Amino acid sequence: MQGLTDKVVAVTGAGGGIGSAICGRLRDEGARVYALDLVDAGGGEFVRTDVTDETSVRAAAETVVERAGRVDCLVAGAGIVEDDVPAEQMPAEQFDRVLAVNLRGVFLACQAFGRHMLDRGQGRIVNISSMSGNHVVNTPQKQCAYNASKAGVSALTRSLAAEWAGRGVRVNAISPGYVDTPLLSLKRHQFDQWLGNTPAGRFARPEEVAAAIAFLLSDEAGFFCGSELLVDGGYTLI
Ligand SMILES: NC(=O)c1ccc[n+]([C@@H]2O[C@H](COP(=O)([O-])OP(=O)(O)OC[C@H]3O[C@@H](n4cnc5c(N)ncnc54)[C@H](O)[C@@H]3O)[C@@H](O)[C@H]2O)c1
Repeated sequence: MQGLTDKVVAVTGAGGGIGSAICGRLRDEGARVYALDLVDAGGGEFVRTDVTDETSVRAAAETVVERAGRVDCLVAGAGIVEDDVPAEQMPAEQFDRVLAVNLRGVFLACQAFGRHMLDRGQGRIVNISSMSGNHVVNTPQKQCAYNASKAGVSALTRSLAAEWAGRGVRVNAISPGYVDTPLLSLKRHQFDQWLGNTPAGRFARPEEVAAAIAFLLSDEAGFFCGSELLVDGGYTLI
């Protein structure tokens, strides 16, 4: 990919299945990767960050800018899934927890890092949404909080893209289908059904999601603005 060498990239959720692949891919492209997560998984220079906490996210942005001198790119990928609960029974606290990480966390990261990018008049952001933000999967999942959070990420991405494109900051999203990572460890009993519903006949490899993100961060995606790349093996086609 063009234009990633020496870029300073912050990745939230860097220690996860997809996050680790993103860090690896971006390092291979020559980027300087800052790994933001609750725990250090060795994906890059670690900056302990809780994306639900505004102070923590702002401090992380300051740390990256202090250490690297600037920030060029952000991947906002931290996310959680909780147990299936029917919507009519879901405790408001569970709804809030999922929204706090998956939507508030993306907003806070985009805001904190975006401010530095806007000051310099350049920057690139990719948010990780999900196919389930636009498509209620045709299995009996009970994930209204997760689905709503991801629809929020997609809408937030479009809003930021429209506000910031004219000031040099490109904002896009990717929407993965199923990827076998620790996020889905609670859902293994549903794997066969999901595989049967995926035209490609398999789950995505984290590296395939990372490749889409590297593309959106690269010079080659210069005219992408508020787009959402679907990486779902055809799941939402049927
Ligand atoms: N795995 C899938 O099938 C799939 C599908 C669509 C979208 N996604 C999205 O991709 C992203 C990455 O998912 P994954 O499969 O790699 O999950 P994962 O569970 O492997 O990794 C998630 C990472 O986020 C971190 N995290 C959680 N809460 C945090 C917080 N408050 N502050 C900072 N970091 C926090 C975790 O420590 C973990 O390292 C998520 O946003 C997820 O919703 C995943």
